This record gives sequence, C-alpha cells and structure tokens, in this order.
Amino acid sequence: MTVAIRQIHPVFTGEVSGIDITSPLTRDEVAAIEAGMDRYAVCVFRDQKITDEQQMAFSLNFGALENARGGNITKPEDRRLAVGMNDVSNLARDGRPLDRDSRQHLFNLGNLLWHSDSSFRPIPAKYSLLSARVVNPVGGNTEFADMRAAYDALDADTKAQIEDLICEHSLMYSRGSLGMVDFTDEERAMFRPVRQRLVRTHPVTGRKSLYLSSHAGGIVGMPMPEARILLRDLNEHATQPRFVYAHAWRPWDLVIWDNRQVMHRGRRYDQRQPRDMRRTTIAGDAPTTAQVTAS
Ligand code: OGA
Ligand code: MN
Repeated sequence: MTVAIRQIHPVFTGEVSGIDITSPLTRDEVAAIEAGMDRYAVCVFRDQKITDEQQMAFSLNFGALENARGGNITKPEDRRLAVGMNDVSNLARDGRPLDRDSRQHLFNLGNLLWHSDSSFRPIPAKYSLLSARVVNPVGGNTEFADMRAAYDALDADTKAQIEDLICEHSLMYSRGSLGMVDFTDEERAMFRPVRQRLVRTHPVTGRKSLYLSSHAGGIVGMPMPEARILLRDLNEHATQPRFVYAHAWRPWDLVIWDNRQVMHRGRRYDQRQPRDMRRTTIAGDAPTTAQVTAS
C-alpha cells in the first residue's frame, strides 16, 4: 500500500489513505505521515480498529509519550485507562457516564473550550492522537483551527505588536473561565502558570503560528484586563469559520493534530450517553520561550 493524503479543507487538514496503523509501519510510511503533519497540521485516518496497545505503539513513531502527571484532577484510583492513555471520554471506571455534577466531569468540560493540549506545561505537547471508540449520538464533533493561517492573516501592526509577547498558561485559567475555582492547595501548586510565546515558529517548516489556548490567562508585563482583551480578540480572529475544520466522528476514526500549529475544541454532546475517546500525546522537545523568532 502507498500512503496518500488528500486535503479536505481549504487551508489545512488531510485525509490519509493506503495505510493500516494497527500494525508496525515502514520508515517511509512514518516519513509520509510526518510530512503530511507538517503540511496539513491535522491528519484524519478512517476505519482504524485499534487497541490501546496498538495506539501507543503507533504513537511512538512520532516521539516519546508525554507524562500525563499534573494535567488532571482524576485520582489514580478513578482512572479507567492504562498509563500512557489520556481518557477523553465522559465515562467513569464502571463504564457509565460520569455524574452530571462530578468534579471530574466538570473539569473535563474544559475540553470544549478552544485550546492546545498541554500548553499549561513548561514543555508543551507536539502531537495528539485521538481515537474514537464509541461515538455519541448527538453532537460531539471536534473542531480544529489553523493557527498558521490565522497568524498569516493578521495585519502587520498586530504582528509587530505581538511578536515577542509571552503568555501565562494554567489549567486554573481555563477552568476558572467556566466558574470552576475550587482548587485545593495541591492542585494550585500543580497548576502553577507557565510561560509560552504568543507567536511560535514551527521547527521543520519555519512557519509562524499564533500560540493561543484557553489556558492562556495573562501576558507578562501587561495589565490583566488589557491582556485578556488582546487574547480574546486574537481568539476571535483565529477561530473564524474560514480557519476551522469540524470533524464529525465515526467509530474507529483516528485524528492526529500538531498542537504547535492548531487549536482544537470538542462540541457539546449528550452527556447521558457514552462517548469513548482515547488520546495519546507526543511530548514536545523544548520550551517555547527558548525559541528565537527570525523575522
Ligand atoms: C483532546 C480534546 C476534544 C474532544 O482530546 O485533547 O480536547 O472533542 N478533545 O473530545
Ligand atoms: Mn485537547
């Protein structure tokens, strides 16, 4: 089989065919997917009946798995999936939907805000790989916004104004914006804000992108309301329909996105019905603040 990638949105996103990702890949196949990710930023694979072990093995072609510690409030004894798997479902350990007022469920609702995975970590994620195991009957699309196209479309003054800005990201900002503010001291320490550049440069293509996320809640050296207004404006700009691809899930779809080049969000769905989505996350390799931008 030869890997082929067809662009399915005017500015980004490719649908990949001619590959079975449940068995080991050749070097050429891995290279074709990496090249597709650099170009399209989101790659969609259909009909991949994958197990957790196979998903982790496939993911390792693209780097090390990110250590998920400090990214959630789920207690170890409540975890449904093995270490290495991020549970993006609405399910409890017993396989039933979480209670409407369970803290875990409320925290997970943060995934419905535009974000980039792990932007709250000092070294944020490279790729995320999300596999649909059980699809919800109502809603539950995942949307992606191309932050390279969004950056390119900014006017020159705005580009100059934001070029060297550094944002502060924390899970307390994204959850706080939903009114979830009851963090324990331990959680506050775990969710300490980290710094990220607002404009980042892709290490392979050299393209610049806006590095936005609902976790971003402040800008270094800027009064808070001014920072929040700027971030809101940029988010509004970056998530215009022309930059957004909406993925309607079928069972056994797997979608990979490059967190350095896109934001994403889930859409609302019927929380009383199961939605079983499982993610693996590829670790990034450097803090964004170490990045020097060349103009
Ligand atoms: C994720 C995520 C949104 C969704 O997997 O990182 O944000 O639609 N998912 O489940
Ligand atoms: Mn996410």
